[in-house]
Amino acid sequence: MTVPPVQVRGEVLGRRRVGAYHLVEVVAPGIAESARPGQFVAVTVGGPASSMLLRRAFAIYRATPVGAYTGTVKFVVGVHGQGTEWLAGLRQGDQLDVVGPLGTPFRLPTKPVGCVLVGGGYGSAPLFGLADALAARDCPAHLVLGAATADRLFGDQEARRAAASVTVTTDDGSTGVRGVVTDVLPGLVERTGALVVYACGPMPMLRAVGQVAASYAIPCQVAVEESMACGIGVCMTCVLPVVGADGVTRMTRSCVDGPVFAADRVRWDEVGRVPADALGAPAGATY
Ligand SMILES: Cc1cc2nc3c(=O)[nH]c(=O)nc-3n(C[C@H](O)[C@H](O)[C@H](O)COP(=O)(O)OP(=O)(O)OC[C@H]3O[C@@H](n4cnc5c(N)ncnc54)[C@H](O)[C@@H]3O)c2cc1C
Ligand code: FES
Repeated sequence: MTVPPVQVRGEVLGRRRVGAYHLVEVVAPGIAESARPGQFVAVTVGGPASSMLLRRAFAIYRATPVGAYTGTVKFVVGVHGQGTEWLAGLRQGDQLDVVGPLGTPFRLPTKPVGCVLVGGGYGSAPLFGLADALAARDCPAHLVLGAATADRLFGDQEARRAAASVTVTTDDGSTGVRGVVTDVLPGLVERTGALVVYACGPMPMLRAVGQVAASYAIPCQVAVEESMACGIGVCMTCVLPVVGADGVTRMTRSCVDGPVFAADRVRWDEVGRVPADALGAPAGATY
């Protein structure tokens, strides 16, 4: 069961550079206790007088419910635009307004089965908490971390402690196997006999990973990253076409009904459009 989100104003305990990213740790009691792998936080950016009204979403990398600071949350920031630029300038002692935990977590296997966890760039961040949760259920977690270049990997050192095995790919071959995650995924699934695949990263990667899992007839859960405005299910900015158990396509909110979806339920060809057969949608509509 997931716990309703809370809003907290917490002190930034630290912000440090990790490769191409910034790792932010903030005091967030109430969020840290109930956060589960795959969920995210939404933070305000720009300070109290900012014109940047919308919160920015970040997958929870680590949630530490106890300790000297009664609960902290860590998340990883890749600089993209003005909001993330501002976050990259945070200093210890700054205040940050955080809402969380938001969204749906990854579902865990009920039996001890091998799992492959695939992360693209900063998309690997939520997979470390997931690997821990899987280990607690005796499910060996085999991690695949991919990025364009070595500095755009996140957590490749930590992965060696957290997982049963680690495979790294980079597009340019600057570290690990030259290529993309789906080049190594079939071999890994075959070698490990994994029965579940989890993935987080860019949408084209999620789609491709889902296709590999489908070719082995094993379930795949993906954490999608759709642009969000409210983050709490009100505005419909974050919808994507998802097929329900009844076979009907609905424009589904990735902030509250996701971000974790079964890969074979997402209509990847139609992401960014409203399919003509989606429930209640005018044919050919776009959003
Ligand atoms: C569930 C979820 C988890 C995420 N996890 C991470 C993470 O762990 N690390 C990380 O660096 N980034 C993550 N992102 C993406 C991050 O939210 C965007 O990079 C950020 O909002 C960009 O803000 P900006 O002001 O720098 O860019 P701008 O382009 O100026 O942002 C303007 C608006 O567009 C939206 N937006 C822009 N780019 C994206 C994007 N790629 N995805 C979603 N919304 C976008 C933002 O909501 C914002 O309101 C995540 C997004 C989602 C939806
Ligand atoms: S971001 Fe508003 S409904 Fe999802």
